[in-house]
Formats: sequence, C-alpha cells, structure tokens
Amino acid sequence: MSILPKQCAVASPWTADLALLRCPSCAGSLDDGTAALTCAGCGASYQLRDEILVIKEQSVENNRVAQEFYDSPLWPKFRFWEKFTWFCNGGERRARNQVLRHLPQQPGLRLLDVAVGDGVYLPWMPDDWHIMGIDIAWSQLQACRIRAGERACRLVQGEAESLPFCDAQFDAVLSIGAFNYFNDPEGALREMTRVARPGATIVISDEMPNLTGRMLGHRLGMPAIDRWIVSRLMHLGDRFTDMVERHSALDVRSIAARVWPDIQYHEAWHGLGYVLVGRVPH
Ligand SMILES: C[S@@+](CC[C@H](N)C(=O)[O-])C[C@H]1O[C@@H](n2cnc3c(N)ncnc32)[C@H](O)[C@@H]1O
Ligand SMILES: [Zn+2]
Repeated sequence: MSILPKQCAVASPWTADLALLRCPSCAGSLDDGTAALTCAGCGASYQLRDEILVIKEQSVENNRVAQEFYDSPLWPKFRFWEKFTWFCNGGERRARNQVLRHLPQQPGLRLLDVAVGDGVYLPWMPDDWHIMGIDIAWSQLQACRIRAGERACRLVQGEAESLPFCDAQFDAVLSIGAFNYFNDPEGALREMTRVARPGATIVISDEMPNLTGRMLGHRLGMPAIDRWIVSRLMHLGDRFTDMVERHSALDVRSIAARVWPDIQYHEAWHGLGYVLVGRVPH
C-alpha cells in the first residue's frame, strides 16, 4: 500500500504510509523505524510486529470482552453459527454484499476497515483498492495478514474509538459486526468521520441489538433458556452474552443521528441486521 509517500532514512513496511498516521495520544506525526514507529511529539513508541502496527494491546470494558472473545477458542466455535446465518441468507458472499454494495466502486479506493477481523471479504475487494484494517484482537489480525497475502493491505492493532490516522485520509470507511458493543459507538462514528475525506462514504453494519429478546424463551417468559442457547450451545460465552443482554435496548439509529442527522438506515438479512450509510459532507 502506498497511499501518500514520505521519504525517511530508516525504511519499514510503513514508510510509504507514514503520512496517514498520527499519534493517538498527542496527534503528533510518527517517525519511521524498523521495529517501531516513534511519535515526534510525545516520544511514544509503537511497535511493529509481523508488519502490524501495535497502537494499543490491552483494551478495557466492552472492548476487552470482545478482544478476549475473538482471541479465544470460543470464536471459531461461534463462527459456525455466523456461517449458518449467512447460509440462511443466500450464502456468505450474497449476504455480505447487502453491506459491501454500499461502498463506492472507485478505482484505487483508499478503504479503512474498522474491526476488520480476519478479513474474510478482502479477497472479494478489487485488487487496486488500498485497504487499511484496524482491530483489537491480535489473532484476528494475524489471520487477516495471512489472508491478505500480497494484496495492498496494512494492519493496525488498536481501537475504533481512537483511530491513529490523520484527518480526511480515506475514500470510504467500513465496519461490519462490531458497532453495537464498541465502548463508545458514537465516539467511534465521530472518529470514522474525522479520518474520512469530504465526499467519502461510511458504511456500518451489525446485528440488531435486540436479537436475543426475540427468541422463543423470552417470548415464553423463560429467558434463561435463551441465555443457555446463546452462551453455551452457540459458544458466545458468559461475558459476551452478558454484554449482549446489557445492550439489547441500544438505539443505534439515535446514536448515529447524533453524529449524522441524515444518515441512511437499512435493514439487512431479513431483519436480523442493519446497515448505516452516510456520505461525509464537502
Ligand atoms: C464479528 S467480528 C467482525 C470481523 C469482520 N469485520 C467481519 O465482518 O468478518 C468483530 C471484530 O471486531 C473487533 N472489535 C471489537 N471491538 C472493537 C473496537 N472497539 N475497536 C476495534 N476492533 C474491535 C473484534 O476484535 C473482532 O475482530
Ligand atoms: Zn505522541
């Protein structure tokens, strides 16, 4: 990926992309290095591991619950159910295209994927797109790095709420499957907007927050049955299930409207999910 070139004495895989980056603590520029990038403002050092830029290793609160889940053996077991949901919605590619179709089909698109996970849809993106992915789970980033292979893709370990990028850098920002449980979804949307250039498209999608409340056990007044199904049978685990239950009344539309009054809201996957689409004003 070579979005904005910048000449530096010590070359790292990030040399050509340094101008995109800024220190999340002080907004200073980052200087190149082979093992780490160093903030010219506050001197903070951000390691490069397997070419992944490590901005934040340990999250707290909801983000930590997600980080531990996606780094744990529960995730591959839960994934079976995610795949099953895609299968029921016409197959994974078709189901995900309900979201991805909102991205502009622009040659050389500079795309930021927030909560990129293992990048399952990277191979479907045009080869000339420049993709920057950020996620908090190290094992997901490792899997994404391997999946990306030779394509133009850079990866960062960090949080959606504090993006280590300068203002107005990306032509599109995408986030699938994480928004509901961000520590601060509104703050994350503000960050996505900040790093997107005027005219850029922002696409955010997740499941409906009240899905467990629609299950049969809840309707019969026996929510414990649903809890067992979600946490044990589907392998979401107790902590993630607690988090889902705590956020079942999350009002995604109101959160989004506080940042973007005219953001579009679409239902996806037969009402199981939603897609928010916005265009950054000029
Ligand atoms: C269901 S996966 C989705 C991955 C990918 N977008 C996809 O659709 O396959 C959710 C991802 O969000 C990441 N995540 C959760 N909270 C995050 C946050 N605050 N900042 C960055 N990544 C986060 C998790 O680590 C996980 O990899
Ligand atoms: Zn700094």
